[in-house]
Amino acid sequence: MKKLNVGMIGYGFMGRTHSNAYRQVNAFFDLKYQPVLKAACGRNSAAVKAFADQWGYTSCVADWRELVNSPDIDIVDICVPNNLHAEIAIAAAKAGKMILCEKPLAMNVAEGRRMVAAVEKAGVPNLVSFNYRRVPAVALAKRLIDEGKLGRIFHYRANFLQDWTISPDVPQGGAGTWRLDAAAAGSGVTGDLLAHCIDTAQWQNGAITGVNAMTETFVKERLHAVSGKKQPVGIDDACTFFCRFANGSLGNFESTRYACGHKALYTFEINGEHGSIRWDLHDLHRLEWFSHCDPGRERGWRSLHVTDHGGDHPYMEHWWVPGLQIGYAESFVHQVADFLTAVAAKKPCSPTFRDALQTQKVCEAVLASAAKGQWVEIAAE
Ligand SMILES: NC(=O)c1ccc[n+]([C@@H]2O[C@H](COP(=O)([O-])OP(=O)(O)OC[C@H]3O[C@@H](n4cnc5c(N)ncnc54)[C@H](O)[C@@H]3O)[C@@H](O)[C@H]2O)c1
Repeated sequence: MKKLNVGMIGYGFMGRTHSNAYRQVNAFFDLKYQPVLKAACGRNSAAVKAFADQWGYTSCVADWRELVNSPDIDIVDICVPNNLHAEIAIAAAKAGKMILCEKPLAMNVAEGRRMVAAVEKAGVPNLVSFNYRRVPAVALAKRLIDEGKLGRIFHYRANFLQDWTISPDVPQGGAGTWRLDAAAAGSGVTGDLLAHCIDTAQWQNGAITGVNAMTETFVKERLHAVSGKKQPVGIDDACTFFCRFANGSLGNFESTRYACGHKALYTFEINGEHGSIRWDLHDLHRLEWFSHCDPGRERGWRSLHVTDHGGDHPYMEHWWVPGLQIGYAESFVHQVADFLTAVAAKKPCSPTFRDALQTQKVCEAVLASAAKGQWVEIAAE
């Protein structure tokens, strides 16, 4: 097995999920490559050292430029706030590194285009971490659609609901709350949560061609954790949009951080001419499936426990025994496994930067539509 040295930039939530995935992947997947946790990067030297010790990184770096330009690093993994993705990814591409970048790809489409140009010019493997595609039940839904089990698709609807910013006392900016600061996040729930729903939807159901959206910022001013001053809030707290897909189906999407009682309720439902499927992140190993092709007296929603082996259920033959489930963390293990498999085969691994640019375009169109109060078309590149 050839070793590939990983340089991890950021040691927060995603730094941990990705580090865990690199550590697990060779124990469960038969791969040509072995990721090695080589260097962790962060500005707080004590915190990054503690992270490196906990996860087994052999060195620490304070400046991401040093990590990106180090000849010891093969894979640059970008797990920092959204406003840093473009600069780091472009520098990493120029340095010839493989790149795994957290979502959303960028702050906006213009930045995303520069990132796509950089990785394509350099010819480096690249992947954006829309990890929900790699939950077995979500991947099974994609297989059922591709096999034509749903027939013509009429409707796609998705929600991503949270409740952690309802209090006006939650600050914006700084560690932990950078998501509320437009300068660090680019947008609110649209880029943070709906980007996941849009990625999954376009993967399963094809391109979104036009959107009509509304957004709201319920708390207009918040204390900024860095400046210490009350500042206007520039992000969308909630977003609802409807859309058309290229295949003629209609879409309906909603996201908010003001849905009291919901921590991370990501759900989707797809209705086709022969059946429907629905999925719920809170019960992520189950796929609900209704087949109109069943005899009438037996028709009803089935709840598939997506844990079978033998290739019936994506990824599951790599884990325990049928009936025993896996969870959120394993979607990141699948992501690394798929990435390293694609690197070995010298093939792209979706969602590439170019695939993620399509999601960025939908996000930008959603925000433009909400600002103008108008329908916005999304041109094919
Ligand atoms: N795929 C998913 O499901 C998912 C979930 C959460 C977050 N994300 C994405 O992951 C990225 C990181 O989010 P998070 O939740 O891990 O955030 P976090 O706040 O938990 O961690 C961010 C890390 O970036 C570091 N950082 C900030 N500026 C830096 C700099 N200049 N140089 C080096 N390090 C710096 C911080 O110190 C921290 O370690 C974001 O782009 C976010 O959208 C994706």
